[in-house]
Amino acid sequence: MLVKLTNGKTLPIENHKVRIVQKCELIPVDERLKAMEEGGYNTFLLRSKDIFMDMLTDSGTNAMSDNQLAAMMVSDDAYAGSESFYRLSDAVEEIFGLKYSMPTHQGRASEHLLAKYFIKPGDVIPMNYHFTTTRAHFEMAGGKVLEIYTDEALKTTSDVQFKGNIDLKKLEDVISKYGRDKVSFVRMEATTNLIGGQPFSMQNLKEVSAIAHKNNIPVVIDCSLISENAYFIHTREAGYNKKSVAEIVKEMMTYCDLMYLSGRKSCSVRGGLIATNKKEYYDGILPLLPLFEGFATYGGMSTKEIEAMAVGMREMVDVNVAGSSAEMIKYFVDRLVELKVPVVTPAGGLACHVDAMRFVDHIPQLQYPAGALTAAIFIMSGIRSMERGTVSMDRDQDGKELVSDLELARLAVPRRVYTLSHIEYGADRLKWLYDHRKLIGGLKFVYEPPVLRFFFGRMEAIGNWGKALAEAYKKDFGEI
Ligand code: F0G
Repeated sequence: MLVKLTNGKTLPIENHKVRIVQKCELIPVDERLKAMEEGGYNTFLLRSKDIFMDMLTDSGTNAMSDNQLAAMMVSDDAYAGSESFYRLSDAVEEIFGLKYSMPTHQGRASEHLLAKYFIKPGDVIPMNYHFTTTRAHFEMAGGKVLEIYTDEALKTTSDVQFKGNIDLKKLEDVISKYGRDKVSFVRMEATTNLIGGQPFSMQNLKEVSAIAHKNNIPVVIDCSLISENAYFIHTREAGYNKKSVAEIVKEMMTYCDLMYLSGRKSCSVRGGLIATNKKEYYDGILPLLPLFEGFATYGGMSTKEIEAMAVGMREMVDVNVAGSSAEMIKYFVDRLVELKVPVVTPAGGLACHVDAMRFVDHIPQLQYPAGALTAAIFIMSGIRSMERGTVSMDRDQDGKELVSDLELARLAVPRRVYTLSHIEYGADRLKWLYDHRKLIGGLKFVYEPPVLRFFFGRMEAIGNWGKALAEAYKKDFGEI
């Protein structure tokens, strides 16, 4: 919730109180450097015990509510016909207006099943932007991902409120170029993860849906961050301020044929889901569920998480829950703008995205500026962020490196986990690092896996710059 202060400013204030806490420790900078070296300059390979603030992701790391935890205690572990599933299914119908629910173990599992059901070799899948696991699954099924974002989408500094929109002209062109039979579906990702958590507007979704449906092409929506996209529609789109987040989510679904999600984000659990009103899709996908995930009424999820998902789904459409992380991210972004640290604007959902292309503009893209920046952020602050740039791109089929459109260090803000003093600390350390940016150098791979290389890839600092950074830090702040 935003409260007005006497000085005229606003303050994002928590609509919850903390009842259970988890200790986190800031280890000395030399130990942070050692941990980063041992982790191959890849923040995925750090150990949690060495991390002060974990901003790698908001996925599966949100604080659950008392009601979610309580619901977990009454779960029904039946292998088949679990009551927990029926409670989830009721929640999906209530919140999304969708009749047929299929749980999966997480978001990428839903993508796997959709790829198997919808995509034939040679198909194209137009979308506002890809997500790493989405692209990997769709390409593995023989499809080609086409990103048809608007010109504004990749501008890291912008006032445009819906950078996640699809360019309608490009959508028409794709359909006429490839033919409607070659388009598996149009995919809309609610608050496009890789370009800074940027939302699309209801108007755009409506228009995309009209074009797709005129051509008999289904619209699939990735709802992993649905409550944030709905919150942005509520706060930014003309005519929607009087509609509740719940009404907005329901309306969004009326333009789509199928939704899937990772429950690890907006729903604050661990699990995934596919839901639709189209019996034909349900009948086609359901047989795949026991094969790859689990029986229809648990789909690879624990029934405890299924219960918590049903509660989380109802809670996420509360405007103060939907906006809880979004407003904190905005506060973080505004602080960095004030401090002149290059950051993606406007603030999106899921994270504060620092623009590595501008932050470390002396590092060429094939020396991974965003990877280097995430490593440097950890060494000097104990904050773990995530590389979202060229390291996160896999090579093409000929083994050529694909440089990313954007080079971002993503500092995710898990829901209801960190406080404003954590955010102030992060902003202060990023400012220090920006003032010392020339100390940061590039990275090179010493081990590069063939797919989703960002997970397990190991790198080395070109010129051992980590040491120089740690020394400069000690001069200003001491050992810690
Ligand atoms: N779609 C979107 C938009 C996502 O952000 C994610 C995951 C997935 C699908 C895959 O879901 O992890 O449950 O299998 N994003 C995480 C992140 C990993 O850190 O942003 P999953």
